[in-house]
Amino acid sequence: MTARFSRIAGTGGYLPAERVTNDDLAARLARDGIETSNAWIVERTGIQARHFAAPDQACSDLAVEAARAALDAAGRRAADVDLIIVATSTPDMVFPSTACIVQRKLGVAGCPAFDLQAVCSGFVYALGVADAMIRGGSARCALVIGSEVFSRILDFRDRTTCVLFGDGAGAVVLEASDTPGILATELHADGRHVDILCTPGTVAGGQVVGDPFLKMDGQAVFKLAVGVLEDAARAVLARAGRTEADLDWLIPHQANIRIMQSTARRLKLPPERLVVTVDQHGNTSAASVPLAFDSAVRAGQIARGDTVMLEGVGGGFTWGAVLLDY
Ligand code: ACO
Repeated sequence: MTARFSRIAGTGGYLPAERVTNDDLAARLARDGIETSNAWIVERTGIQARHFAAPDQACSDLAVEAARAALDAAGRRAADVDLIIVATSTPDMVFPSTACIVQRKLGVAGCPAFDLQAVCSGFVYALGVADAMIRGGSARCALVIGSEVFSRILDFRDRTTCVLFGDGAGAVVLEASDTPGILATELHADGRHVDILCTPGTVAGGQVVGDPFLKMDGQAVFKLAVGVLEDAARAVLARAGRTEADLDWLIPHQANIRIMQSTARRLKLPPERLVVTVDQHGNTSAASVPLAFDSAVRAGQIARGDTVMLEGVGGGFTWGAVLLDY
């Protein structure tokens, strides 16, 4: 029997142990003659600290921790899961997928497992795909994970990017349900903007070819992000037959507090209804939205029955929104 809806049964998150404050990072960069400051980073981005994975921690290790926490919260075991999607741009290997490695680490086998690559929109994309698969009848209990080790692709000689990102993972268990759940999704991409945010290197002939570090035209990304986040928010509300007034919480991609506050203002959402973790996590790309969701649930902010909008925006250019009743 196909389900009419999917709903979030539990959330989980994981941050690696090493917490790096802006002052820590500034001291590290100063050793290479690169100048930055806590004041600059806080004023331009809202970021105060981020976490970096240990050298022996892979994307799948972070993902498994978040997945286990989400399964516990949902009261499910790994054996109950019949779909695993990992949204990531920093996978363990070229192949196989990090999702297959997560599946093995969870000690299960058989269900479909694949990675989804939409950079910072990855989790919103993955949730949209899992929702469609559940409503289409090909899954009933999905593990949807965003996991990143962006510290591995940061150029610590480039102060315009290396201060912005952190590592982490977030996950949800998404289950078939007769009641919503996910109300509507909006997913978009515009490949004309590939160059403004990319990590262009690749592997060929036994070596890395091209630049393996993250490159970003911050101002171009900023301008695009503000516009598409408002458009996606309005479109997903219209698709669900809801209005801004129905929103209890907005969880946008945690890249820059100024972009997030601008989106909230445009939706006339009171500032206290904006979930903010960018200050403590930095930009964790595909992990940022599920990590923020989990933090807000565990802090007792988001409660069952609340209407929540998730928004992603990132390289590609990709963007999207998911509206749900938690
Ligand atoms: N410390 C000190 N000074 C710095 C630093 C730093 N870390 N980085 C840049 N500066 C300097 C610049 O060199 C420049 O100096 P100049 O005026 O002497 O040339 C000055 O600060 C201003 O630089 P801008 O680039 O104009 O700063 P801006 O206000 O645009 O802020 C930022 C930069 C924070 C990157 C902003 O553009 C931004 O947030 N963009 C959006 C990023 C984003 O949302 N990404 C989301 C997607 S991420 C993904 O998908 C992977």
